[in-house]
Amino acid sequence: MAGDRAQPVIAIDGPSGSGKGTVARRVATALGFHLLDSGALYRLLGLAAANAGVDRDDEEALAALAAALPVRFSSAADGTEQIWLSGSEVSHEVRTEECGARASAVARWPAVREALLGLQRGFRQPPGLVADGRDMGTVVFTDAVLKIFLTASPQERARRRHKQLKDKGLGVSLAALSRDIEDRDRRDSERSVAPLRPAADARKLDSSDLTIDEVSQTIIDWARGCLSEKERHS
Ligand code: DC
Repeated sequence: MAGDRAQPVIAIDGPSGSGKGTVARRVATALGFHLLDSGALYRLLGLAAANAGVDRDDEEALAALAAALPVRFSSAADGTEQIWLSGSEVSHEVRTEECGARASAVARWPAVREALLGLQRGFRQPPGLVADGRDMGTVVFTDAVLKIFLTASPQERARRRHKQLKDKGLGVSLAALSRDIEDRDRRDSERSVAPLRPAADARKLDSSDLTIDEVSQTIIDWARGCLSEKERHS
């Protein structure tokens, strides 16, 4: 899958708990576009490394794993997402905070990020793609037709992640979660390669006081505007 550069991309970046995963899914559904959850790829790599006994500091071995990551995404009959690694379903496992921290650790290596570029760009297929992550607008899809940087206050993000994990039956204390999120934010923002930051041409949206419906609708409206603008100029 090489990806089709003619297809429009909506890039949604932001820190953990900003709501970008849920919002990206809704925007993709509304536009009938494909969806790339790039964070899931880093989570899967972290999991694959743990399973294979690869150290999170071994950049070369991690990059080799990333270059041939046996992943698959699908939907269950009721529409819930399913994530597969080497033929085993790991949908719940990849969502744990432990897996998020492992993902953030393996994601700091330049060779790993390079090795995952082709896989990510391959999701760019007709009629278009909504991609969420940390560097969708700054590195992976620099020509995205719309770039969003979604934020929310640290307290609100911790509260949302807490609820999300609780709803999935994954118990964790709010205080511990706040600390984990803070650590992960720091590592994702301070790394030398593809740090978490808004693209120069990104629209920033603070979702602290907005509902998921409001955020999704705002982005859907912006996206429709950008897509018809693109159409007019082609
Ligand atoms: O979006 P998420 O919480 O599932 O991502 C998990 C980790 O993966 C995140 O802390 C940093 C890393 N990541 C990244 O470095 N680049 C991306 N585009 C997406 C995620």
